[in-house]
Amino acid sequence: MPEKTLPLYRLEFKSFQDWNGARISQTLIFHNNGSSWWIKVAVDWSLPEQVPGLGYFKRRFVFEEFVEAIDFEPKLDHDTERVSNPANLLIAIAHRMYYTIAEDPKRVIYPILERQRCLPTFEACCLQTIEVIAPTVSTVLFKQQIFAYKTIDRPIYEPEDTEHILNEIDVLEQLRGLPSTAQLVGLVVSENPYKTCPSTDSPAVITGFLLEYYPGGSLEQVFEDEFQFDALPIQWALQIGTALRSLHKGGRTHLDIKPSNIVLDANENAVLIDVSGTGGYVWEWLSPEMQILIQQNSETSPAHTPFEARVSTDCWAYGRLRSAIAEKSGTSGIGNELQFIADGLTKAAPESRISLCDALAQLNENELSSTRS
Ligand SMILES: Nc1ncnc2c1ncn2[C@@H]1O[C@H](COP(=O)(O)OP(=O)(O)OP(=O)(O)O)[C@@H](O)[C@H]1O
Ligand SMILES: [Mg+2]
Repeated sequence: MPEKTLPLYRLEFKSFQDWNGARISQTLIFHNNGSSWWIKVAVDWSLPEQVPGLGYFKRRFVFEEFVEAIDFEPKLDHDTERVSNPANLLIAIAHRMYYTIAEDPKRVIYPILERQRCLPTFEACCLQTIEVIAPTVSTVLFKQQIFAYKTIDRPIYEPEDTEHILNEIDVLEQLRGLPSTAQLVGLVVSENPYKTCPSTDSPAVITGFLLEYYPGGSLEQVFEDEFQFDALPIQWALQIGTALRSLHKGGRTHLDIKPSNIVLDANENAVLIDVSGTGGYVWEWLSPEMQILIQQNSETSPAHTPFEARVSTDCWAYGRLRSAIAEKSGTSGIGNELQFIADGLTKAAPESRISLCDALAQLNENELSSTRS
């Protein structure tokens, strides 16, 4: 009996998008004989009426099955013969398929590695993924050491994300060696993932960066558990405040101070992460005056406001963070002390708030007097 020949090509499924059953699309890489093409299969007509009611995972499965049935070679001819499940709901619309070849404006933009960047580089293919810990971050193994790998590519990518990662690299480079801030290990590079033929020469691109890995989890995760009242809350408040002050001294602002952006190292020291200063922000963590500024001009974002306004919202968010730590510390002396300074940092009128330096000095003083007594 002749040996069954396997298809020469392979589909690698990437992101699937779906708006409650409308505007379904699937991005994939079509590998064929060592070459690869990125393809997006999108539905721009109405689907059979049962499809929207299927639920996200079932729709995704049905669409994947349908896409697998398309013969991408030599062109996007559809071939319903290849559908393994003739009951696939989308077969009814297969005859309406057409294709266009165009640059995808939504593709992930990988910046070219500039040789003048004097940072260590790591080949993406040499990193072994251990665990995906957040949509943008995985733990990876390199030469038996664990690192955190933050990637440009992510499930919901916007072109600005590339800019945010480059900003984060710049800030991390500036903060190298400073205590209580995430330490940059190097850039992760690879061949351009969109390259069709492996033989053609093209410059390496940046796919993300490696950070030291802090294994204690984020404060958000820590807050989910009850923790013992000891010196840790005060230590965290001091460490985060010191990291924030270094950032401000370097002419930068964070703008996304919140519990998930603080992680703990192996010795339970607090470390500030996500330092681009231009990434996302959470409305409730913006100072009241920053909220008003954004409301008055919906086109702007906190990153585009004057430096003083940005510093002020960082200090306010730091006060809120202290409140959150105080709340977890209960009504012990430590909790009350943290809350007292937090109240001073988050007063409604910006001019009546205490400064970050004063907040740190008060904490230091209190810590000294409690160690003396
Ligand atoms: N160096 C690290 N060590 C340990 N965990 C980390 C590290 N960097 C990031 N993480 C984890 O990954 C999560 C996401 O990281 P980060 O905040 O940098 O990404 P993000 O996509 O900008 O997140 P968000 O937009 O939600 O703030 C963090 O909340 C933390 O739990
Ligand atoms: Mg974050």
